[in-house]
Amino acid sequence: MDIRIDPLGDEGPVRLPEPLGFGRVFTRRMFTQRWDAAHGWHEAAIGPYRPITLDPAAQILHSGQAIFEGTKAYMRPDGRLNLFRPDANAMRFNRSAERIAMPSMPVDRFVEAIEALVRLEHEWVPSGDGASLYIRPVMIATEATFEVRAAREFLHYIVLSPAGPYFASGFQPVGVLVSEEHIRAARGGTGAAKTPGNYAASLAAIEGARARGYQQVLWLDAVERRFVEEAGAMNVAFVHDGREIVTPALSGSILPGITRDSILRLAPDLGFPVRETRLDIDTVLADVGAGRITEAFCMGTAAVVVPIGRIGHHGADHVVGDGNAGPVAQRLYRTLTDIQYGRAADPYGWTRLIDVQAPARERAVA
Ligand SMILES: Cc1ncc(COP(=O)(O)O)c(C=O)c1O
Repeated sequence: MDIRIDPLGDEGPVRLPEPLGFGRVFTRRMFTQRWDAAHGWHEAAIGPYRPITLDPAAQILHSGQAIFEGTKAYMRPDGRLNLFRPDANAMRFNRSAERIAMPSMPVDRFVEAIEALVRLEHEWVPSGDGASLYIRPVMIATEATFEVRAAREFLHYIVLSPAGPYFASGFQPVGVLVSEEHIRAARGGTGAAKTPGNYAASLAAIEGARARGYQQVLWLDAVERRFVEEAGAMNVAFVHDGREIVTPALSGSILPGITRDSILRLAPDLGFPVRETRLDIDTVLADVGAGRITEAFCMGTAAVVVPIGRIGHHGADHVVGDGNAGPVAQRLYRTLTDIQYGRAADPYGWTRLIDVQAPARERAVA
């Protein structure tokens, strides 16, 4: 792919604010390309980060025809960078595109765009345990029409956001509240696609859980309101008897997480058998109460592994284990992040090296 590189203004040295937090700081460049039926993907360019101009009738604003992805670049101990399974993000992007009636993109083109942008913006990759450069590819329908049909013009763009460690104050467990009123996604709907409508549908429940002192929502299936699906915008797993990892089987309404898939593949190599099944919330809570479930945790790119300390349901709190981060979650977190950051060998072939030397820099307050 030919990528046009547009110049930046003279903006001085890169200074990362402290603390970085998550998704609040953006780098100076973005990638863009367009699609229409006559040209396919074209006009690939990297230029200054800037607002997008849209026709007020653009279909994204009415039918919500949009998809996105989330992946990261990690700084290795030698200062070079790792991407983690960007091809898996490309394939999920295409599955999401198919569900929302959007054009697909060759996997190589999706990954090449990320790599070209990260290379140019490598000074923005923060160093330090748990810090990374979050990568957000997005595709939106730009054609101006009120007709309810698939658009014929699309914009794909990528923006980058340096992110600080999710666990700024240690590997802390979160509380999750079982959502009784709202559901996130139904089978046959769009839950398995990474499309903004799923997130819009989840916001009222997330705000409600936060107001009651929980950090995340535990979603149940839409039909029977019985089977555990996801936790917030993450997949979820339970540890039985300190050893077996049990996670909801992909149901069509669960987003197939790349972290989930990676953990299911590496856990048996660490001596933890894995099982994908339907998980009835009443059975889960009985197993928590009886001590058969010893740990619970969420899985996703942003935080990798998040221990669950308590589950709120029907006005009662069910404490998981002793309420603290358990050894299985800690081991999985450490093993997976060691691969992502290049601190350990990668026997799975998941990492993709970007051979640029990111600067060892003092953190500065902007
Ligand atoms: C709804 C939802 N579930 C699960 C995940 C975890 O997926 P991944 O591990 O690919 O980040 C995400 C994040 O992308 C998500 O948005």
